[in-house]
Amino acid sequence: MKYKICGGNALHGELRVNGAKNCVLPMLACCVLTDETVTIDNCPKVQDVLDMADILSSIGAEVSWQGDSISVTCKNVDGNLCCEKVGKIRASLFLLGPLFARNGFVSACLPGGCAIGKRPIDIHIDGLKRLGAEVTWENGVCCSGKVHGNDVYMRFPSVGATENLLMCASLSDETTVLYNCACEPEITALEKMLVSMGAEIQGIGTSVVTVKGGKLHGTRVSAIPDRIVAATYILSAVCAGGDVWVTNCNPRHFSVLNNMLKDTVDCYNVYGDAVHVVKKKRHCAVGMVRTAVYPGFATDMQPLLVASQCTAFGKTVVEETLFENRLSNAVPLQMLGADILCRSDKIVINGVPALSACTVGATDLRGGAALVLAMLGAQGTGYVTDIHHIQRGYCELEKSLRQVGADITIVD
Ligand code: EPZ
Repeated sequence: MKYKICGGNALHGELRVNGAKNCVLPMLACCVLTDETVTIDNCPKVQDVLDMADILSSIGAEVSWQGDSISVTCKNVDGNLCCEKVGKIRASLFLLGPLFARNGFVSACLPGGCAIGKRPIDIHIDGLKRLGAEVTWENGVCCSGKVHGNDVYMRFPSVGATENLLMCASLSDETTVLYNCACEPEITALEKMLVSMGAEIQGIGTSVVTVKGGKLHGTRVSAIPDRIVAATYILSAVCAGGDVWVTNCNPRHFSVLNNMLKDTVDCYNVYGDAVHVVKKKRHCAVGMVRTAVYPGFATDMQPLLVASQCTAFGKTVVEETLFENRLSNAVPLQMLGADILCRSDKIVINGVPALSACTVGATDLRGGAALVLAMLGAQGTGYVTDIHHIQRGYCELEKSLRQVGADITIVD
């Protein structure tokens, strides 16, 4: 399937942000830590979340949906993660820690996910070993033993490893101190969820987190708004022009983006849970950008920002520090007429007055969405193919964009 996009329509109206898939995915893994029911509200029905729910069902969990709420009960769960979807999504890795802690055994094939870099799992594995896992490698990875508390130092503040180890440590009644934790808002949400299930956690939202767990119980939580979807909507208005309100978001979760954009478009105002963007004339380039761990500029926003800078007035230099393949999205943008110079870990974008639509292929989630944004502002009609990558993380992106005036449809 592909998107057919006729560029050039300015966007007008409201775009409402859904719950964050990167918040829901670890929360779904967290359900394995109790035999009681856990309900997650504000849950987006995107492909990665549906796949994660299927993986839970395949190991014995009862999963049900009520609107945008998902309930999971794990009376008994199997430690063999062998369904084909495990190898499809990165988030299946989040089940290693919880299943090891609950069953004393987990065996899994290696996770999939977007092809944005090498994405090793050494930080997860080193941490699990510190928490009692004996690790062997055969058709994937196998952890066995009994979970216990310990001090764990992560060599890099990995989002997924922080989440995995927090969940694992929460089933031990001994104390664990995790050092050099990632501090993304999705991690804070997970920490609060674990507390609501009965874990004692100090240092929530910081880089040193102390966890004392034990037997956990069921809970009801709500996913935080998706900050990357919010950025996608904001930057769609910058690419296409118009007057757009992005609502139901938490602008404090993307302060760096707000600071970058506030002086580059005609109007950029941040309110409690909304952002108002007006772009009538050509926007100015944001200058230098470097991706970093939270609260720095998010790597997931980088391809989206790059798309918007292709038509800015002036030069933008973007350095990617997290994922080595993420700048390769410059290539399809060049096919649309963007003036981008590629170095190994940096690109230099000299803004051109307009892009011209053509056919380009999505190769990952955020890169694919970035191509949609670029095409919204381009001259003529073009196609973005392989949109299954985009559907992993966006709820009917085409419907949302159509509501504010974009000419975008799905065709075979
Ligand atoms: C999470 O991935 C997100 N995925 C990614 O979003 C996001 O880009 C990333 O965090 C960074 O913010 C989910 O939450 C499901 P990391 P994760 O471990 O956990 C290296 C999207 O588009 N590393 O923080 O995989 C790794 O190679 C996705 O929604 C190791 O070296 O990210 C990378 O360079 C894409 N060894 C850096 O750390 C490890 O064991 C950051 O990765 C783990 C990671």
